[in-house]
Amino acid sequence: SISEPLKVMISGAPASGKGTQCELIVQKFGLVHISTGDLLRAEVGAGTEIGNKAKEFMNAGQLVPDEIVTAMVAARLTREDAKQTGWLLDGYPRSYGQAQSLEKMQIRPNVYIVLDVPDEILIDRCVGRRLDPVTGKIYHLKFFPPDTEEIKARLITRPDDTEEKVKSRLNIYKQNAEAASSVYSSITHKIDGSQSKEAVFKEIESLLSQLQQDKVKIMKSE
Ligand code: AP5
Repeated sequence: SISEPLKVMISGAPASGKGTQCELIVQKFGLVHISTGDLLRAEVGAGTEIGNKAKEFMNAGQLVPDEIVTAMVAARLTREDAKQTGWLLDGYPRSYGQAQSLEKMQIRPNVYIVLDVPDEILIDRCVGRRLDPVTGKIYHLKFFPPDTEEIKARLITRPDDTEEKVKSRLNIYKQNAEAASSVYSSITHKIDGSQSKEAVFKEIESLLSQLQQDKVKIMKSE
């Protein structure tokens, strides 16, 4: 495409459906998906220095210190593929300080999507969540069970998905979300994330398609 690539941020409480929607967005729009949670889990899994530092915070449902996460995100965002094809940033910025770090680097999205989901639904979604370590796909025991016994047998549960830790993650989210999102209020699109996954995606898809068309128009008029 001749137009400048899309830059998208997606935010929302734990289990609001960010990862699930990102799978669908990547399929349709081909953006580079940068999830700080996924990047950190990969570091923990590989036993790197970053992973060893991050592990205790993550397992306790707390935020990993800014300097660790910000360096990781900045390195990923400035890689050539993200610059060329556009990016989809998931789980960052999560605090006012993190949003300010991006502003200082002059990294700004075209749109800031917020998935809005009531607390009582979030707990259920977390406790039933399972991950496929082979494909990285996200499942849910009740809502999205896997198709085969083979996949079912290898699914894993995240250590921070117990009811108690989800409540702590939710509190931390609430303490920080407003300040972080205030930086993007003029480009914020709130979406009702309690709908079916298809209905949520339909809204995101039309929003991003519109943005893409607007970018082409701007290019042509320049
Ligand atoms: P992270 O991995 O980002 O966790 P999170 O924000 O708590 O978000 P989740 O991954 O829990 O949920 P999600 O919104 O992606 O939902 P999903 O699509 O899976 O971060 C983990 C940890 O890393 C943090 O606690 C922190 O320690 C650290 N960290 C990360 N970023 C950081 C940062 N910037 N700064 C500092 N520390 C950081 O869906 C959830 C479940 O619901 C699934 O089972 C899914 O199948 C199901 N589901 C999804 N959509 C629907 C639907 N529409 N209807 C029914 N079920 C649905």
